[in-house]
Amino acid sequence: MNLTEYIDSKRDEHLKELYEFLKIPSVSAQSEHKRDIESAAKWVASRLSAAGLEKVEIVPTKMHPLVYGESLHAPGKPTILFYGHYDVQPAEPLDLWTSPAFEPTIRGGNLYGRGTADDKGQVHIHIRALDAILKTAGKLPINLKVMIEGEEEIGSVSLWEFVNANKAKLKADALVVSDTGMLAAGVPSITYGLRGLNYYQIEVTGPAQDLHSGIFGGAVPNPITILCELVAKLHDKNMRVAVPGFYDDVAKLSKAERKALNSLPWKAAEFRKTVGAPGLSGEKGASIVEQLWTRPTLELNGIWGGYMGEGSKTVIPSKAYAKFSTRLVPNQNPDKITKALERHIRKLLPKTVKFKLDLHSSGKAWVAPYTHPFFEVAHDALEKGFGKRAVFIREGGSIPFVTQMYDTFKVPCILLGFGLPDENAHAPDEHISLENYFGGIKAVAHFYEGLGKL
Ligand code: BES
Ligand code: MN
Ligand code: MN
Repeated sequence: MNLTEYIDSKRDEHLKELYEFLKIPSVSAQSEHKRDIESAAKWVASRLSAAGLEKVEIVPTKMHPLVYGESLHAPGKPTILFYGHYDVQPAEPLDLWTSPAFEPTIRGGNLYGRGTADDKGQVHIHIRALDAILKTAGKLPINLKVMIEGEEEIGSVSLWEFVNANKAKLKADALVVSDTGMLAAGVPSITYGLRGLNYYQIEVTGPAQDLHSGIFGGAVPNPITILCELVAKLHDKNMRVAVPGFYDDVAKLSKAERKALNSLPWKAAEFRKTVGAPGLSGEKGASIVEQLWTRPTLELNGIWGGYMGEGSKTVIPSKAYAKFSTRLVPNQNPDKITKALERHIRKLLPKTVKFKLDLHSSGKAWVAPYTHPFFEVAHDALEKGFGKRAVFIREGGSIPFVTQMYDTFKVPCILLGFGLPDENAHAPDEHISLENYFGGIKAVAHFYEGLGKL
């Protein structure tokens, strides 16, 4: 049996194993899932061992453990570092899932469940590809290091320290990641750019404690109103971020790249349908693709305060909160952005309230050339898995480790994404297309095999 036939013959086995992984609610943001995080790490470690990796270890960090394994028995062949994450986003709001988030279910050619696309399903694509190579060829044709972390969805906060302390261990000729998407169904894609992310929470405090809104209302600052006024001033009429200095360092898109990005087979109608809003709003003067991949943004991610329970309660709350984040693009400096933002907020907020701004995580954008011969191998492998030539895209999401690796080692980073834009990553009813999952296993197996022939 050749590699493709072997992978096809094991479809049920691939899925059965993936279900085990998906059933573990490894939500990194919620401390009640600490145990689940640990069992997901253990699960990954055992599957890596089964797929032929050695010295597999679960490395504790300040927060959630990462899993590392290696197989270095191909002298003269490339050494690849494969990275992914086993943690997932919170599943809430639970009542909006058609089938429960942690009970993987197939409907209409898709597999539903939290982590199916982001990123357990895609990590599993590599585990099964390695397993298939091992079963058909008896050994791996390249040197491989694997690192699967448990904090990606909360900004990879402990990872920097691990990378800095383990440079020799992580050194490789290339980084390989499957944690992105395809431009559209049937369009295999290699991502060469990601936006960075700074994530903030602000707390605005007015009165020292909640107050009766009848006894006190009219004379007392309301932190919710004041926070809303602040939020409303963070963008101008043209949907540009109104923080002074925000755009100062933004890299200008070259004519050639602008042309290449805007001529991709990207469908505005499909995008509108996926979004499902009555209309779109974005920065004037940039196409939607440019807005999504090449322009920085500021987004509110949550806002709350006061009474949010059943019925009514007449109260002036002491505090109001918002979570918000900025997507950053090449040449923007995350620290500089935080300073500019803090200065702006201090200027906008009246002296009737106090505020506290916390930075949850911070990371630069990543864009890199895709000229290395490894990209040719990737291109051919995607064609073997999907029967089509791949396109080169940028994406709007962020993967802190990719930037860290690239900045540390300047190695080629090959991002082979198997998700789709409408697969509800981070939202209810997240799913992965089975065609992409199985096609991904084939493509990745051929990719590793192809690298061994270089
Ligand atoms: N897999 C995503 C990143 C992604 C999504 C890249 C789609 C390209 C296309 C990753 O798991 C993610 O969600 N990252 C966070 C990073 C953050 C928490 C630092 C993000 O982008 O919000
Ligand atoms: Mn991810
Ligand atoms: Mn994610």
